[in-house]
Amino acid sequence: MITTSVEDQKKTEMSCTVLPLLVTLSPALFFLLLHDVSVTQGLWEDYKYGRHSSELLHQEHNCSWTCMLFTLQWPGGFCQSLYKETQCKIPQNISSWTIHGLWPLHAQWCCSCWPFFHSDVQELKEELTEYWPSLLKTKSSFLFWKEEWIKHGSCAACVEGFNSPLRYFQICLKLRHQFDIYKLLEDAGITPSCERLYKVAEVQKVLLPHVGDKHEVQCVQDQKDRQVLFQVKVRLSRNLTIGCDHHGDTSVDLAVGPGPGQGLSTGHPCPPDTPFYYFPINHQEPWRPCG
Ligand SMILES: *[C@@H]1O[C@H](CO)[C@@H](O)[C@H](O)[C@H]1NC(C)=O
Ligand SMILES: *[C@@H]1O[C@H](CO)[C@@H](O)[C@H](O)[C@H]1NC(C)=O
Ligand SMILES: *[C@@H]1O[C@H](CO)[C@@H](O)[C@H](O)[C@H]1NC(C)=O
Repeated sequence: MITTSVEDQKKTEMSCTVLPLLVTLSPALFFLLLHDVSVTQGLWEDYKYGRHSSELLHQEHNCSWTCMLFTLQWPGGFCQSLYKETQCKIPQNISSWTIHGLWPLHAQWCCSCWPFFHSDVQELKEELTEYWPSLLKTKSSFLFWKEEWIKHGSCAACVEGFNSPLRYFQICLKLRHQFDIYKLLEDAGITPSCERLYKVAEVQKVLLPHVGDKHEVQCVQDQKDRQVLFQVKVRLSRNLTIGCDHHGDTSVDLAVGPGPGQGLSTGHPCPPDTPFYYFPINHQEPWRPCG
């Protein structure tokens, strides 16, 4: 099975047209990722497989990235991140933190040539709908996933465990289950409220043992100039261990944009000295959670 996978990878490197083959791979292979992350690059192998030398000059197979950001968003704060708040919607049965994206940092090679179809994630559709919904009225969830795949997933795909949309989205869902921000905060008495204010230090103290010391708690400023809890960014190595140190990566990396899926946010690290709100989700008027 591993042999098949490696063979498929080689084919994938050569042509995007074979990609649908990957869909048929067993999801069980996905679990190999955690312990065996291998890279589909290597000049020797390129030579062995008879690739044209001009391809080698392009850095398209440079898989040198080492760190990723996994970003979770709080729907109750998301609407406050939009310039036109009424664009936002929170599906009826969404009541917890949702996935914004999984983003390799400094990826060299991303590709819109890798098409993304409904069938690629058919078996994950229910789970993705629950944990990775679009919160924009104007964007379907499928389009959100597709944009995230093109902009970020395809850059991760040079690593074996991420090398198909199915695998990439499976990993994202697994990470979402691993980092249950709502529950972690709730267990510490930090719950959504229209009245209570929280300090970033208390939230960080709760999250730190679970998401590492490199995480970032993000706020947005709402129209009444209040700080509102909005996102948590978790830094991961590409073998998915928590935290990631890489020479040259600075905190600037944590400011990586919101990605095209939601597009408009101006999140920033929650200020250390200004307490913030953790607003409840209001499905009827999500942009005005507290009336
Ligand atoms: C890959 O990219 C890194 C960072 O830009 C660069 O230092 C390295 O030389 C590149 N490697 C190859 C084989 O192109
Ligand atoms: C949420 O609602 C959608 C659409 O009604 C449904 O497909 C989905 O299964 C529901 N999810 C949960 C967790 O109830
Ligand atoms: C994961 O990668 C990091 C950084 O490269 C490394 O320090 C760590 O040992 C790796 N962990 C596993 C389980 O391979």
